[in-house]
Amino acid sequence: MNTILTGDRPTGQLHLGHYVGSLKTRKMMQDDPNNELFVMIADVQALTDNAKTPDKVSSNVLEVALDYLAVGLDPKKSTLFIQSQIPELSELTMYFLNLVSVGRVRRNPTVKTEIEQKNFGEGVPTGFFIYPVSQAADITAFKGSLVPVGEDQKPMLEQTQEIVHSFNTTYQEVLINPKGVFPEKGMGRLPGIDGNGKMSKSLNNGIYLADSKDTVDKKVMSMYTDPNHIHVHDPGKVEGNMVFTYLDVFAKDKAYVEELKKQYQNGGLGDVKIKRYLIDVLDEELTPMRKRREAFAQDPQYVMELLKEGSLSAEKVAAQTLDEVKTAMGINYFR
Ligand code: TRP
Repeated sequence: MNTILTGDRPTGQLHLGHYVGSLKTRKMMQDDPNNELFVMIADVQALTDNAKTPDKVSSNVLEVALDYLAVGLDPKKSTLFIQSQIPELSELTMYFLNLVSVGRVRRNPTVKTEIEQKNFGEGVPTGFFIYPVSQAADITAFKGSLVPVGEDQKPMLEQTQEIVHSFNTTYQEVLINPKGVFPEKGMGRLPGIDGNGKMSKSLNNGIYLADSKDTVDKKVMSMYTDPNHIHVHDPGKVEGNMVFTYLDVFAKDKAYVEELKKQYQNGGLGDVKIKRYLIDVLDEELTPMRKRREAFAQDPQYVMELLKEGSLSAEKVAAQTLDEVKTAMGINYFR
């Protein structure tokens, strides 16, 4: 039996990058009866750099939940919940903070990069600075043994493993050492439609699970290909050509994609043709998700009810772990 814990910050809708990077793996894991899956909407973590704009976070809780339901995460099989509704996670974070030095947090490469990107400097909110420690609490509270996440979360897993080791050796063996489950090679980071490193809201270069077919078609038609491939008969470049990058990830008929690549490189294959093919490929993947999303979006109250039930059962698990943690630390005074 594996317990799996993972989550996303609710700062926007989820896109195809999230889908290939981790949502797809979660759905597969959920459907294996040997797995118990916990999926968390990490609103507390999202607030660490959105404290002054809490609406941005709270308004996206439902959006992320709809995206989860869209990809086939099923509240009957998995526990879908909201981080802020589990106060035990904050409590556990407090105990963990004493096991981690300021220097160690400062060296976390993901946090380091984020602090630079967000231009925080010395103004970095303390909560943001220590979010890897709170993430260790998320993972260990549910005794997660597997954590399916994107490449960028590797440093979080390492930090969690160190905290687990420190806790278990300082007090008692209570916590489970988690393993990260990372995307297969090549599936790691789906670039934006403009060929930029990463899909992001601010670059407006993402394809979202909630996008209509019309929107997806337009986005594919505007994709970055090979700027020197002007006439159909010109030889074209396949590397760095987003249409082929996406076809490599999403097309099932790999042999056909190879054939198209050869033809494109030799000249004689137009961008419109390959884009039309990608539109069909994406449509096949996205239509069932879009249908599920639209159906659940009709009844937001029902979706919130699902999250409430999920949060209640998640809290029971976290409370049990916290009880063991306090006993191990010798501070369970009244029992
Ligand atoms: N850091 C993750 C992200 O930015 C979200 C997250 C919070 C998470 N807690 C977690 C992921 C625990 C995995 C496990 O998307």
